[in-house]
Amino acid sequence: MQFSSVKKILTVAVSVTLMSFSLPSEAQKVGISLPNPDKPRFNLDGEVMKSEIEENGHEAVVKTADRTVETQIKDIEGLIDEGCNYLVIIPVDGSALTEVLKKAKAKNIPVISYDRLIMDSDAVSYYVTFDNYKVGQIFGDYLEQKLNLKNTSDDPKYIEFFSGDQHDHNVESFWNGSMEILKPYLDQGKLLCRSGVEAKEGTYTPNWLPDEAKKRMISLIDQLNIGPDEGKNSLDAVLCHSDGLAIGVIEALYTNAGYRKNNFPVVTGQDCMVNNLKYIKRGMQSMCIFKDARVLAYSAAHMVLQLINGEPVQVNATESNTPDGKNRIPTLLCSPKFVDKDNMRELIEDSGFLDAES
Ligand code: BGC
Repeated sequence: MQFSSVKKILTVAVSVTLMSFSLPSEAQKVGISLPNPDKPRFNLDGEVMKSEIEENGHEAVVKTADRTVETQIKDIEGLIDEGCNYLVIIPVDGSALTEVLKKAKAKNIPVISYDRLIMDSDAVSYYVTFDNYKVGQIFGDYLEQKLNLKNTSDDPKYIEFFSGDQHDHNVESFWNGSMEILKPYLDQGKLLCRSGVEAKEGTYTPNWLPDEAKKRMISLIDQLNIGPDEGKNSLDAVLCHSDGLAIGVIEALYTNAGYRKNNFPVVTGQDCMVNNLKYIKRGMQSMCIFKDARVLAYSAAHMVLQLINGEPVQVNATESNTPDGKNRIPTLLCSPKFVDKDNMRELIEDSGFLDAES
């Protein structure tokens, strides 16, 4: 698989920092630990990183967990034991790797936290991710516009919130970014949540599982008598933090509430998975955040190569991974994009993303 187009689309403004690890004279082994086998997030990321690292003369070993912390810890231990000199990790649970990463630190193995921040560990050297607060703002701006919330004479609109896994640090950023825009409308009563579940804690979806989202949406439909027909209560929007969650919610809205493409509530998503792109085309999902796995993985691979070559590591932010905010990790933030049916062809199809994904 060729990823050369990515090199052209990777444009990030960066400042520079340098950490001192000793310079190797021979090919290095990079261990990549993925949380689940889903495409495009995160399996495609693993493929791109491996290919870029190997094109540059080093070895990359990819291990893919099954969404469980136990498997991921075993994977990371395996990567350390088989002599990896660098680790790139997308955590299943950001707070569950503290112990295993002590082993990496003891062996002086630089650890790059990828996409999701690894919490409570001083073994993390760098973090590379998308701007996840911005993701939340994109959700908020989109809903503000689609639901016409600025227009004061309109009737209130009804929304439900479906957040990701509570152990994923990104969820906090998605939530905060979207609430910067939506909270004032909730406070004014222009946006209403029939379930009353407006605090982040009530909206989490364990392990980002579509089935969990589906179950919760079905129970809301039943409890609140939601549907498009006479005598039912309306629902205007569902803010879903990911495409996986959107799938569960869309299935429930279609099958259990009877919504069809001409009256479907606004449903958001993230990742541009093949099935969700189909839903967007059919008018059942409204938009999607596009996190181009190729861009992020290319950035991470080059972060590792900069470390290997003793070059300055390109970053443009810092993120803290401790509750006291003190442990600040040099971070490279990439820009998320917005996709709907109008720009899907250009961003997803013409850019070759769909071919890479399938
Ligand atoms: C990622 C999202 C993804 C979600 C579920 C988050 O950490 O940033 O892109 O949708 O995990 O896999």
